[in-house]
Amino acid sequence: MAEYFVINGGKKLEGEITVGIAKNAALKILAASILTDKPVKLPKMPKIEDVDRMKELLIDLGAKFSGNFINSSGIKKTDLNYKIADRFRASIVLTGPILARYGKVSFPHPGGCTLGKRPIDFFIDGFEALGAKVKKRGDIFTVASKKLIGNKFVFPIVSVTGTENLMMAAVLAQGKTILKNAACEPEIENLAIFLNSLGAKISGAGTPSIEIVGAKELNGGAWNGFPDRIESGTFIILAIASKSNIKIKNCHPEHLEVLLSLLEKAGADLEIGADYVIVKPVRNLRTIDVKTREYPGFATDLQAPLTVLLTQANGISLVHETIYEGRLFYTDILNQMGANIIMADPHRVIVQGPSKLRGKKINSPDIRAGMALIIAALLAEGQSVVENIYQIDRGYEKIDERLQALGADIKRIKN
Ligand code: EPU
Repeated sequence: MAEYFVINGGKKLEGEITVGIAKNAALKILAASILTDKPVKLPKMPKIEDVDRMKELLIDLGAKFSGNFINSSGIKKTDLNYKIADRFRASIVLTGPILARYGKVSFPHPGGCTLGKRPIDFFIDGFEALGAKVKKRGDIFTVASKKLIGNKFVFPIVSVTGTENLMMAAVLAQGKTILKNAACEPEIENLAIFLNSLGAKISGAGTPSIEIVGAKELNGGAWNGFPDRIESGTFIILAIASKSNIKIKNCHPEHLEVLLSLLEKAGADLEIGADYVIVKPVRNLRTIDVKTREYPGFATDLQAPLTVLLTQANGISLVHETIYEGRLFYTDILNQMGANIIMADPHRVIVQGPSKLRGKKINSPDIRAGMALIIAALLAEGQSVVENIYQIDRGYEKIDERLQALGADIKRIKN
């Protein structure tokens, strides 16, 4: 049997917790590092399962990891290992760099949790816009182009990895590429800064219009990471929900402006510093209505933790998930723990609080819902067993040890 967590809820939490390096930046930096055959120094990679899967994929292609360095000069293969790529959606971000550097890439429709199976049409359309030919045989896509040619591509809806993938592909294309209706997440701006440090010519990253002038080749370089905004927000929510006094260190509050203003509207007592947030306990939380949006809006990846918090607010809150289908099904598990949440439709739930939560045996449906259920278990009376914690280990480094340091009663059981 796989590992699971046993959590005895209701313990007082207190102290400091340090935010880790952004998962959704680290994965793209690993992919980008194969755009050069020179070594790239990556001393701050988070120790999480998704990063391990990405490294496995890169090693399978022929990249070498030694100490803090990755060296891609030995890459010969251009087809993504089916078994690994099938395990996580972010594998798709390797396709742009492989195509740009080697003129060809084969890959399956990426997998992961149930959410990971979402469409990849923007990737395919974007590659075609850059002049590549796409074939699909069975489950496998093959994309080929001796030399990508810069072009304008307009995303029909905003896509984070779509933007990153095409930005990386365009870095070695001939001429100028313009990406319109691009995603604006801080991870995208950070990726562009990294690529520019290797010699790429990208401007406008972090805005909806990105311009990339193709370069002949890129140099080596280094990446030192930056704090995970989703982990930061999750810890802030945990502190408020558990009425604790906690300092969340090494975060960038400017990446969390909408969340922080929503939390203040709900009555949270926050001290917001340049790179920290201190949460002080408050007795009564007010209800708020929230809608997930692309950055800088309220992040879909914080929707599940915030919903757990709203089970503790006085009255009715509305949570509207606009980015994904199927990202509210975990609310059924919260109801089994004692919450009072009504699903209005697959995109909207009504949360009636406050509810006393009870410990339960639960299964983590995906990474963010899994973390939200840990918060619920920490608030609940009695014992919870959380299974399928691989989903949580995908994105939160040693989460059990870091929560224990705050006083949480959480144990990892290994069989
Ligand atoms: N979409 C399409 N076609 C495509 C691509 C996306 O229709 O070709 C749709 C999706 O179905 C979704 C919407 O576009 O409805 C937006 O999805 P997006 O492409 O932005 O998501 P993503 O790039 O695959 C990244 C993060 C997610 C995060 C979303 C939204 C990574 C590796 N993943 O996903 O993070 O939820 O942006 O911010 O960066 C997580 O870390 O838990 C996670 C799921």
